[in-house]
Amino acid sequence: MTANILFAAGDTRWRVYEAPLRRALDNKGVDARLATDLPPAEVDYIVYAPDSAVQDFTPFIRARAVLNLWAGVEKIVTNPTLHIPLARMVDHGLTQGMVEWVTGHVLRHHLGMDTHILHQDGVWRPDAPPLASDRRVSVLGLGALGAACARMLSHLGFPVTGWSRSPKDIDTLRCLSGEAGLHTALEEADILVLLLPLTPDTESLLDAARLALLPADTVILNPGRGPLIDDDALLAALDAGKIGHATLDVFREEPLPPAHPFWAHSRVTVTPHIASETRSETAAQVIAENISRGEAGKPLLHLVDRDAGY
Ligand SMILES: NC(=O)c1ccc[n+]([C@@H]2O[C@H](COP(=O)([O-])OP(=O)(O)OC[C@H]3O[C@@H](n4cnc5c(N)ncnc54)[C@H](OP(=O)(O)O)[C@@H]3O)[C@@H](O)[C@H]2O)c1
Repeated sequence: MTANILFAAGDTRWRVYEAPLRRALDNKGVDARLATDLPPAEVDYIVYAPDSAVQDFTPFIRARAVLNLWAGVEKIVTNPTLHIPLARMVDHGLTQGMVEWVTGHVLRHHLGMDTHILHQDGVWRPDAPPLASDRRVSVLGLGALGAACARMLSHLGFPVTGWSRSPKDIDTLRCLSGEAGLHTALEEADILVLLLPLTPDTESLLDAARLALLPADTVILNPGRGPLIDDDALLAALDAGKIGHATLDVFREEPLPPAHPFWAHSRVTVTPHIASETRSETAAQVIAENISRGEAGKPLLHLVDRDAGY
């Protein structure tokens, strides 16, 4: 049987994804009709990005799954017209990119790189940084991305505490869950990394009360989602000298408006949602694997729990 696959993720991505997808489907032995325009009633699978023109899934009467190209699903998971399984993206390339971004920014602050890069002023500052073993890192979210970042930081010698919804047991990490676990993770975070999905439970998770639990001079890295943090509470904590630095990759409004105080704040680093992205070569293999599973009647990988919102 031919699988009719609609690529509903825009023309720019089609140019990048078409060849890798065709190769990956071919390698999996999937007999596929892959196109950006198919009669909705004939579509079996929808390869999707939430900024797609397709927002009403009602006409896709025989579609078996939506395969999201993004790891974050907050913009599609609440779509009232979507009643078929939704798979999110778990891609080796995406994970590797996030590990590199998080590790780089942790090391920037751990080693105090800014001191020497920003102040070439003739002053000899001989303070050596501590070892990683003396810098505690907490990672909120221990999914595909958070766990990979936490493992890398632990491998480098940082004592890493991770926090997730369900209890976990991961190698050398101290894994916590629940509100008490969150308190401990915050109270013992010299560097805090946010890699939670955006859901009703995680929105504004880092509010004034929880920011107050962090040790003095904590550095916050947020490559998760902007609304995880209460912006006003963060700015107040930065202005009060409570938070050492915030490196933010994601924002409530993107692009971050030019007048937003984050841009001008001396202790905020803004990166434009570039921590990591789905890589076409590896992501195409994940999509093809799922379509091949669907065709064989096997359960799909990386299915979103619609009730939990991620
Ligand atoms: N900046 C970028 O470039 C970029 C790129 C890709 C992704 N992202 C963001 O990164 C997020 C994480 O991606 P992922 O692939 O690692 O997601 P994931 O595999 O779904 O993992 C999510 C983690 O968060 C935990 N979690 C969810 N809700 C929670 C709650 N209420 N309390 C405590 N823990 C909770 C989950 O706990 P359980 O393990 O118990 O389920 C899981 O450990 C994405 O949702 C997206 O927003 C950003």
